[in-house]
Amino acid sequence: MTEPLIIGAMVRTLGAYPSGWRHPGAHRDPATDAGILRRIAREGEDAGLDYLFFGDWLATGPDLEFRDPYLLARIDPVSAVLFLAGVTSRIGLIATVNTTYADPYAAARSLASLDVLTGGRAGVNLVTGAEPRAAGNHGRDAHADNESRYDRAEEFVEALRRLWDSWSEDAWIADAERGVLIDPEGLRPAAVEGAHLRVAGPLNVARPPQGRIPIVHAGTSPRSRALAATEADLALIAAPTLVEAIATRRLLRDIAAEAGRSPDELRVIAPVLPVVGDTDAAAKRIVQTLLALVPLAEGHQAARPAFPPNRTIGALADALDVSREDPLREATFDARVTTAEAERLGERGAALIERLDRIAGLGVRTGDPLTWRHLVAAHAVPAAFVVGDAGTIADHFELWRDEGAADGFNVLSAFQPAQFEAFTRIAAPELRRRGLLRSVAESQGSTLRDRLRISSYVDA
Ligand SMILES: Cc1cc2nc3c(=O)[nH]c(=O)nc-3n(C[C@H](O)[C@H](O)[C@H](O)COP(=O)(O)O)c2cc1C
Repeated sequence: MTEPLIIGAMVRTLGAYPSGWRHPGAHRDPATDAGILRRIAREGEDAGLDYLFFGDWLATGPDLEFRDPYLLARIDPVSAVLFLAGVTSRIGLIATVNTTYADPYAAARSLASLDVLTGGRAGVNLVTGAEPRAAGNHGRDAHADNESRYDRAEEFVEALRRLWDSWSEDAWIADAERGVLIDPEGLRPAAVEGAHLRVAGPLNVARPPQGRIPIVHAGTSPRSRALAATEADLALIAAPTLVEAIATRRLLRDIAAEAGRSPDELRVIAPVLPVVGDTDAAAKRIVQTLLALVPLAEGHQAARPAFPPNRTIGALADALDVSREDPLREATFDARVTTAEAERLGERGAALIERLDRIAGLGVRTGDPLTWRHLVAAHAVPAAFVVGDAGTIADHFELWRDEGAADGFNVLSAFQPAQFEAFTRIAAPELRRRGLLRSVAESQGSTLRDRLRISSYVDA
């Protein structure tokens, strides 16, 4: 039988679609994240998901409000997983650490602590960061360039692994009768001396139960791909289409093989933003609402200095190469797009209209009326939406697995908690029925390495 996929939740409490927080009933106050995190964690664990994943971004600013509102204010990822360690007992917990700014000893220590506290459920996502403002928050003059960031990231991986190996498996003796607590020979220095990092070791936390805590990496540059393919257990890819995902997965597997690694040791994980309803039509109506809630250049938002410039009909027309003289530029957001106007939007306009039919049941001639608001919003705020009932969502997961596009998925939810719960309660049972998601019983007592089907690490 084919193995189930690896399925985890990428947790963004404010929702993964930028207008999600405006949806009726959505969580929208980061000061009350504790409650929503607890709820998401229990829900994900009960559904048998493999892990909860927390990204990170080392700066904030008013420009994020309309682009990536979930980055504005949220719990730091290592704090989030340590908090959830106490309210869960089976699910894996993956936190992001930025190797450009983090201290490797401190990172190795908190991750080993998480692994000990959870009996081997810890994972770490290593990123080098793309946010230049992070430099000013960490006492640096400028954000380092791609090459030096990845040089440091490689040393960081080495440092983590050596620190986690500080205690040999039989170093802790605890023989009360003889009064022997440890075997000093089994406590080893890390002795990392690189161009970017120097760490003496050993680590002052017990050996993590997994030995090597699973490493996740996400990025797009050649150095990032090389790091993912040679060092990571999970590679997160950004590929929006099936064809691109197949190509990216193949490329990563090839780089792994060239580096002398079995490509099957690398799991490639694709993002998915399922919008789930009891019926396809109900799910499409949710997308209609999300699109209608995207702030466009009208009302008070448009006056904000950080308001994105792509939220006008003119910007959409420019992007689609529509003539400067075309009267469609004078349309209002809530006017229906006419057949004649649609024809003047060219091939890319036709593709956008076709997509809106597929994800939201909107159309020029058929379906619910397609307005300029929908077109501008869908163009300005794209997302990897997969929209429908349990069967439609499961078809997507199955197709991507069968075509070799992904070994698993990071599930994003447009808003919390309703859309995450729609995924776990409506879609997850169908995924399980088709053998795409493991059964809850199977995951009892598993470490994250077991869940990811990575061979266990034996102390050198
Ligand atoms: C699926 C995915 C998730 C990512 N998550 C984060 C994150 O949480 N924090 C972060 O700083 N960067 C994140 N990144 C960005 C990468 O770390 C990287 O900085 C970015 O893709 C630029 O590419 P490069 O580092 O390969 O040059 C993510 C990228 C992808 C593809």
